[in-house]
Amino acid sequence: MKTETVRAAISGEYDAAMEAAVHQLRSGAVVALPTETVYGLAADALNPQAVLRIFEAKERPRFDPLIVHLPDHDWLERIVLQEGPEAGLVRELVTRFWPGPLTLVLPRQAIVPDVVTAGLETVAVRLSAHPVFSAIVAAFGSPLAAPSANRFGRISPTSAHHVREELDGRIPLIVDAGATTHGVESTIVAVRNGGIDLLRYGPITVEQLREFGPLRIASARDQPEAPGQLRSHYAPRTRLTLVDQLSAFEHVGDKRVGALSWRGTDARGFAEVRTLSARGDLAEAAANLFRCLRELDAAGLDAIIAEEVPEVGLGAAIMDRLRRAAA
Ligand code: TXA
Ligand code: MG
Repeated sequence: MKTETVRAAISGEYDAAMEAAVHQLRSGAVVALPTETVYGLAADALNPQAVLRIFEAKERPRFDPLIVHLPDHDWLERIVLQEGPEAGLVRELVTRFWPGPLTLVLPRQAIVPDVVTAGLETVAVRLSAHPVFSAIVAAFGSPLAAPSANRFGRISPTSAHHVREELDGRIPLIVDAGATTHGVESTIVAVRNGGIDLLRYGPITVEQLREFGPLRIASARDQPEAPGQLRSHYAPRTRLTLVDQLSAFEHVGDKRVGALSWRGTDARGFAEVRTLSARGDLAEAAANLFRCLRELDAAGLDAIIAEEVPEVGLGAAIMDRLRRAAA
């Protein structure tokens, strides 16, 4: 299959690229689309055959459920059950954070195909704030299932070029809207038992969520509820080690070692260096993280040494991804 890339206007004004995407989606094909977090691989969420093509293209195991991206707020009640004591909390969260990088895991309605939820009684839902994504899902008029547009276990794509590296020849269309804003995948929470369980760290921070009540943090387990919680995930092919400071690393032998530096200081003696944010800005660091990892991975290194970032706010999501990349 030939993979075509079309450029979409960031304004979100309906253009030929969006029309091409909607046309493919209507025919049951999968297309790569930009979101504000990472690029997604989208298909008609209510068409099981189309959804199966996502699993094939990504080589994703069928037990790993997908996020359903809604056209608008009104679709929420058609996809999830909103009963019980949590309904009010769900309303508060979506009022505050949607559209945006927060995914909610909630009891599902029967309309959601089993292949989307991997047979679970819950479904993950999100409303993207990306102008191009929202214009496409609105024109499509029905929810889109979309995981990150990488092959299973690999680093999520933050540009159309990364998507091509992952999926060239496997999908008909990539919609290019430049680099994504946040650079890490959405925060995932389950709203249940009267409270919020954090399932994946992301752009909506622990500090922000705590304003809505106590937060339970699910730790990395070997039998995760969400495979995104697998210890080894987001993995470069080159061996990656996490250190608290690059200056503490001792170079031995003639190995080509690359550095992923937090602020670009103390990165002497490394064959390649990528800096997350010279000005020490966590949002900039998150936006650069996956691109830097990909570039280091492609540099023919024997090893990558990654430096820890402060684990506050967005730093928690960055450290989570680095720990998994190192596992
Ligand atoms: O930012 C994002 O969330 C991106 C963009 C494209 O929207 N999507 C994304 O999807 O990261 P994916 O499939 O790569 O990661 C979604 C995670 C997976 O780890 C999956 O196991 C988990 O969400 N998940 C999906 N449905 C679930 C459910 N019902 N219960 C628990 N976890 C679920
Ligand atoms: Mg993923």
